Amino acid sequence: VTAEKGGYEHFMLKEIHEQPRAYRDTMLGRIDHDNHQVVLPELKLSVEQIKNIRNVQIVACGTAYNAGLIGRTVIEQFARIPVENDVASEYRYRSPIITPETLVIVVSQSGETADTLAALREAKANGAHVLAITNVVGSSIARDADDVLVTLAGPEIAVASTKAYTSQLIAFYLFGLYLAQVRGTMTKDEIAHVLAAMESLPEQVEAMLNNADTIKSYAEHIAKHKHLFFIGRGQDYAVVQEGSLKLKEISYIHSEAYAAGELKHGTLALIEDGVPVISLITQESVMEKTLSNIKEVKARGAEVLAISYEEHAAELLKSVDHVITIPKTLPVLTAALSVVTLQLLAYYASLALGHDVDKPRNLAKSVTVE
Ligand code: AGP
Repeated sequence: VTAEKGGYEHFMLKEIHEQPRAYRDTMLGRIDHDNHQVVLPELKLSVEQIKNIRNVQIVACGTAYNAGLIGRTVIEQFARIPVENDVASEYRYRSPIITPETLVIVVSQSGETADTLAALREAKANGAHVLAITNVVGSSIARDADDVLVTLAGPEIAVASTKAYTSQLIAFYLFGLYLAQVRGTMTKDEIAHVLAAMESLPEQVEAMLNNADTIKSYAEHIAKHKHLFFIGRGQDYAVVQEGSLKLKEISYIHSEAYAAGELKHGTLALIEDGVPVISLITQESVMEKTLSNIKEVKARGAEVLAISYEEHAAELLKSVDHVITIPKTLPVLTAALSVVTLQLLAYYASLALGHDVDKPRNLAKSVTVE
């Protein structure tokens, strides 16, 4: 049995370890190194259409939705186009405002999620151009979409999605840069700078995977708790939403992910002695602000783990109980690294609790009912 798991104890761990390969494969052939640009010949979307896009709607479920939250920050920053995120099961019922200048991006690992497929059909019926980011070439979503950007994560077996999420991030980085190229919102040098940082990501993930011991022991520690909180700002907030989902899904520990600045508007009432608060704090522009939110929870007895860059560890340790570091990358790409720590945290917490990591209760890999 471990043979089909490549020697790993679970598919989830195998798939976490496949991420460097999945990043490389998803980038392969899509970066023109001579000209420092992204090439996506598979897209039918014309230069004219790209120039005319007025808004983007990203629609998906679960982890794919969480990848879309990062997609939004990437497209807004690179191409300066306004983006909305929608949960697919809600999208159709809110009469979304769709025009021929709306680009709808549906994200789905399986390409078979019923809610996402229904949202795609609704968007098309209303005249939007629909781009699918999917891991399965012949899937229903791939067949129905106007355009397909395939992620090359390879088959994902564990119910908890890992390499599909991070491959979706890579697809968003590539697509965001492509939009920026066509619309002229970034210079050649700026694009080259991002591409170079992207190409370092696989090695950086490898380094993280070789240093997972601290994460494992922290996971064994949180496995003793019934509730915990995740906080972050900006991209870090999007990533902790994924970290919280992953932890709930396979460890059954209740957690909530909060925008760090929003805690004091209610949730702070739940913080009491010894409650773990996991703070993802990588976005330097808002670091001071998050640090003051960390102090708010510390003052109420929380036990805080900060996940950040090595260069901030000493300073953070003055205010928090534990620090786990991640390799440094550009702020816009940080999710592709920080999420790996949260995946491992969920995995080892589930393992410590003796749960069925690959097949958590009540859940199916692909949800084909609405
Ligand atoms: C992820 O860990 C979950 N199992 C789940 O949220 C999943 O991402 C969601 O059901 C969407 O699936 P899809 O990407 O195949 O559409």
